[in-house]
Amino acid sequence: MLNKKNPLKGEVTIPGDKSISHRAVMFGALAEGTTEVTNFLQGADCLSTIDCFRKLGIEIDNTKERILIHGKGLHGLKAPSCVLDAGNSGTTTRLISGILAAQDFETTLTGDASIQKRPMRRIMEPLSMMGADITSVNGNDCAPLHIKGAPLHGIHYHSKVASAQVKSAILLAGLYADGETRVTEPTISRNHSEIMLRYFGADIHTEDKTAIIQPNPLLHGQKITVPGDISSAAYFIAAGLLVPGSEILIKNVGINPTRDGILKVALSMGGNITLLNENYDGEPTADLLVKSSELHGITIEGNIIPTLIDELPIINIMAAAAKGTTVIKDAAELKVKESNRIDVMVENLTAMGADITGTDDGMIIEGGKPLHGAFIKTYMDHRIAMSFTVASLLADGETTLEDKELANISFPTFYHDLEMLQK
Ligand code: S3P
Repeated sequence: MLNKKNPLKGEVTIPGDKSISHRAVMFGALAEGTTEVTNFLQGADCLSTIDCFRKLGIEIDNTKERILIHGKGLHGLKAPSCVLDAGNSGTTTRLISGILAAQDFETTLTGDASIQKRPMRRIMEPLSMMGADITSVNGNDCAPLHIKGAPLHGIHYHSKVASAQVKSAILLAGLYADGETRVTEPTISRNHSEIMLRYFGADIHTEDKTAIIQPNPLLHGQKITVPGDISSAAYFIAAGLLVPGSEILIKNVGINPTRDGILKVALSMGGNITLLNENYDGEPTADLLVKSSELHGITIEGNIIPTLIDELPIINIMAAAAKGTTVIKDAAELKVKESNRIDVMVENLTAMGADITGTDDGMIIEGGKPLHGAFIKTYMDHRIAMSFTVASLLADGETTLEDKELANISFPTFYHDLEMLQK
């Protein structure tokens, strides 16, 4: 049981970054030789990626301390003998599609009930333009997807959405194309693929909002230490700021500028956060010293949105506890995440007594209303479960989560770590 309102004190080390862990397995599988990954996120989503690549013939040792991926090069994957199951993971589904589109075999790729509702047209369209034969089995532009490998052409794709999953799917297909592939985004999304593909030896660079990749590189196995996931750290950043009397040190958090919007927002809301031990070697990291603070509402819109897209649920909780109004705009992508996070945040925060209104592309929150316990409907969404766990620390009365285990998707030690900070 969490000790409601007990201040959070002490140090916590956050598990590895989910996006980077997925990519380490995928790119390691396509590289020649062994890739060694430490601080890999042992969450269900990343384990789905391992499972898919094992089914594609890649030997992967997972000893918990480290992952060894015995890569077989760009053309070393084998036809799986069964359907590939991406579980709850959008990153697995979309990125692997870019790879499967170029293989000399056919695959069917599916996932859980949440994945089967998420839009795949966004990758089907550009991959088809490259020559891929990719269809939605039920004809609804969602998984299951049937992918028949085909020769691919380089394209210049202008994406309507700032999505690292879309960008990465195209770049991965671009490894197999007959010429250069370019992806231009409306706003830059997380750039872990670009950084890591270059590290493995790919010829990839960026020009403003365009990522440009040359085909057919020789990728070499690498050693990768995955930084702590800022998206997981976000729950403790929020809890540390919101629970009076808290002071915590969150160690080794990834602060890549395409992911650090939560820090900028927390600071603009009046949060007391100090960055220590900053390290800019490869993916940048820092320790975050967080002290409880009086927060005030702000407007969050425009280019910052992709840099905090996964943190908007917990930012909603911060906004509900802050003084004044928070307006979130340009975040229509929230509707197509693991759940419709506009509707789900409005439903659950309203149930707790907050004043929140959903809009077409975000929400408006009048902060400062007292929160009370409620039954939280989690809609198969790990970030909803963790956000409302933090909210429960601020609420009078008991809060019950429909499915607490969802945290296992991205942060298996979440409840344990939170309890330790409250001891
Ligand atoms: C991710 C990209 C984001 C993010 C997701 C992980 C990735 O999705 O929401 O949790 O690893 O590339 P979009 O690219 O669809 O915005």
